[in-house]
Amino acid sequence: MKKSIVTGGIALIPVLLLSGFALAQSANVETLRGADVDELIPLDQIHKNVEGRMQRNYRQQPPLVPHSIEQYQIDVRTNQCLSCHDWTKAGERNAPTLSMTHYLDREGRELDHIAGTRYFCNQCHVPQADAPALVDNVFEPSSGN
Ligand code: HEC
Ligand code: HEC
Repeated sequence: MKKSIVTGGIALIPVLLLSGFALAQSANVETLRGADVDELIPLDQIHKNVEGRMQRNYRQQPPLVPHSIEQYQIDVRTNQCLSCHDWTKAGERNAPTLSMTHYLDREGRELDHIAGTRYFCNQCHVPQADAPALVDNVFEPSSGN
């Protein structure tokens, strides 16, 4: 008696497995992004980098970055922006040299290397993008008055 219950139970296993499989097949799973995993969805053109150098809106504005920055690592050990923009490299890389203000420490002393206060470039410099303003802005440069 006991044996037949056990074998009966074992015989049920494939049936249960198969029905579970059938259920999973029929469930209609929708992706959050509304496309298949391997399908590329192009980014909104509006957030693409704008070609050419944009005019500064006021004299002291950190210039916007006229190229993509995604691939340039900045962390405690490395700063790839410096591999083109530091004064030691800018000539050969044909890139604008860092502003001389970036080589002054807090006391105004001239340094030969970038000041710690200017190390994390993207604190101040952001890539150019033709994006709608997130908040209303009525800023006008003083010379505009
Ligand atoms: C492969 C070299 C290279 C690297 C790396 C690089 N840049 Fe540049 N960058 C350039 C060149 C060349 C220009 C000038 C482009 C032009 O005139 O259109 C430029 C222009 C700029 C400007 C505009 C300067 C101005 O006076 O208008 C800023 C700001 C800037 N880069 C910031 C950065 C930052 C921040 C990083 C790192 C995230 C970075 N760059 C990494 C080559 C580089
Ligand atoms: C604390 C803000 C700040 C940080 C951090 C900073 N910058 Fe700037 N940067 C500015 C400002 C403001 C200007 C324009 C005024 C000036 O020349 O100081 C400028 C100017 C520049 C220019 C234009 C120079 C010229 O003569 O036209 C370049 C290139 C530049 N920065 C690159 C960088 C790079 C690369 C880094 C990171 C290694 C960096 N900056 C970090 C604020 C910053």
